Amino acid sequence: MKFIFLLLLFLISVIANDAVHTYAKSEECKACHTQIYKEYYGSMHANATPQKDPIHKAVWDRHPKNLKFEQYSCGKCHTPAADDLDKMLTKGQKALPDATNETHQEAISCAYCHRIKSIELHKISNTNIMTNTEKNYFGTMLEHIESPFHGIVSDGNEHMKNGNVCIGCHSHKMNKHGLNVCSTNIDNELNAANCVSCHMPKVDGSVSLLHETKKHAFHGFAGAHFHSEMLTKYVDISILREINSFKINIDNQTSHALLLHPLRVAVLKVSVTRDANVTQLKNETFVRVIGADGKPAMPWAAKTDIKNTMIKANEKRVVKYDFKILKGDKVDVVLGWFLVNPKAVKKLGLENEKVATEFNIFKKQSFNF
Ligand code: HEC
Ligand code: HEC
Ligand code: HEC
Ligand code: HEC
Ligand code: HEC
Repeated sequence: MKFIFLLLLFLISVIANDAVHTYAKSEECKACHTQIYKEYYGSMHANATPQKDPIHKAVWDRHPKNLKFEQYSCGKCHTPAADDLDKMLTKGQKALPDATNETHQEAISCAYCHRIKSIELHKISNTNIMTNTEKNYFGTMLEHIESPFHGIVSDGNEHMKNGNVCIGCHSHKMNKHGLNVCSTNIDNELNAANCVSCHMPKVDGSVSLLHETKKHAFHGFAGAHFHSEMLTKYVDISILREINSFKINIDNQTSHALLLHPLRVAVLKVSVTRDANVTQLKNETFVRVIGADGKPAMPWAAKTDIKNTMIKANEKRVVKYDFKILKGDKVDVVLGWFLVNPKAVKKLGLENEKVATEFNIFKKQSFNF
């Protein structure tokens, strides 16, 4: 009797523990959700591990959690389907990212995202609460057929419905000095802003091969790495000519800062063409630099913002150029970014990684006078 009672207690504690969650592999979704799988496979969610993302690896390689503690706490958001996630998150335990562990390389898997039941808000970072039922997925389709492979729960999940299933991982991340290293949503101010409508717009192609639908939600997750062209409509660029100068206005209609990760730098490049001569005007940069004692520092060591010129949520930024525009001039404006601040590239050993050194063009516009 006592044994059964203890066994029960043990089982309950195991079930209540996040560690026992096992997830279907994303590969298993491919046969039916072919197009969604293909988009997802190329996204940063499928590639969030140190083995697949050289920028993440560069920071992880230098991180005290790695060098001192051998504990991949990043797994909470970067490899949440890991079979040893509990070790990654329990103080004193050791668990490193493993190239040969399939559950690590699943990164942010299909089944993981579709099993987020609710989100607990915390100061350091939020936590996703997962369902215990395997192969039962939350979705938002009002009309769907049954799936021969899994159960579908189309109602009853507030976060899926309001498009905020993302904030368990994307809201904010505070370091041990109390600095928000990366924050989309520190005070939960984005509660009503729908991440999904901007980052997962409806695109052509069927949801599955078993039932023809015209559209599906884009699973390539448009962002700073890929498919930024899908987001240009949320940032307007205009020009205002004055007597001896002109102004470029950048109207960010996004509910968060233009770029979020502190490694990023946005750059505005402006040139004027007059009679086939091109004059390149001074570049304007938008950046949030974090640091300590007045100097830039790595995310784990930073204590404060030492500079923040990043274009904020819903901000209209005006940049003035002391340059007189004449009739016949053409002004070319380019807004883009470096994923890694060129000043940090060398320190991170990323000189030979194209993804870290190339300039990504977001928006290009020409104005004729
Ligand atoms: C609370 C969730 C969370 C945790 C924990 C977390 N990250 Fe991240 N990380 C994110 C999110 C979300 C992004 C995407 C942010 C963006 O693009 O603005 C990201 C992006 C990054 C990037 C940029 C990657 C790129 O390709 O540009 C680096 C570097 C990074 N994380 C390093 C780490 C390291 C190292 C750890 C562990 C010490 C860690 N993160 C822990 C959520 C997290
Ligand atoms: C044998 C085919 C098959 C496989 C394999 C499959 N699905 Fe599905 N799934 C379907 C069908 C059919 C639908 C309903 C689509 C419709 O009505 O248009 C569906 C719908 C869904 C929905 C939408 C629910 C909603 O209401 O919005 C989600 C989420 C989903 N599947 C996730 C997954 C995940 C995750 C995997 C892999 C772990 C997977 N599916 C594998 C056939 C499959
Ligand atoms: C389990 C945690 C988790 C959840 C849930 C999650 N993300 Fe992410 N997301 C990440 C991490 C970690 C990265 C960064 C991966 C990297 O760069 O290595 C990321 C990257 C991204 C990027 C790419 C950013 C870039 O720099 O290109 C976009 C866009 C994005 N997520 C949007 C979303 C949206 C929209 C949702 C909700 C539907 C969502 N994410 C849900 C963890 C998560
Ligand atoms: C009104 C549209 C809109 C909404 C709503 C929105 N975003 Fe964005 N997001 C953008 C735009 C525009 C960019 C900048 C262009 C780009 O990165 O391609 C961006 C960039 C990002 C990036 C990449 C930033 C970086 O530094 O790498 C992430 C991650 C992201 N958004 C996540 C989210 C999450 C999570 C939510 C919901 C809390 C959300 N977004 C809500 C439009 C939106
Ligand atoms: C980062 C979280 C995230 C990941 C990873 C993810 N999904 Fe989704 N998925 C969503 C959200 C959010 C929606 C709801 C979109 C909407 O309401 O417009 C969705 C919608 C769907 C739908 C419903 C049909 C549609 O297009 O609206 C299917 C089916 C689906 N996902 C399957 C998958 C499969 C298969 C994978 C992996 C290949 C996957 N998802 C990976 C968040 C995710």
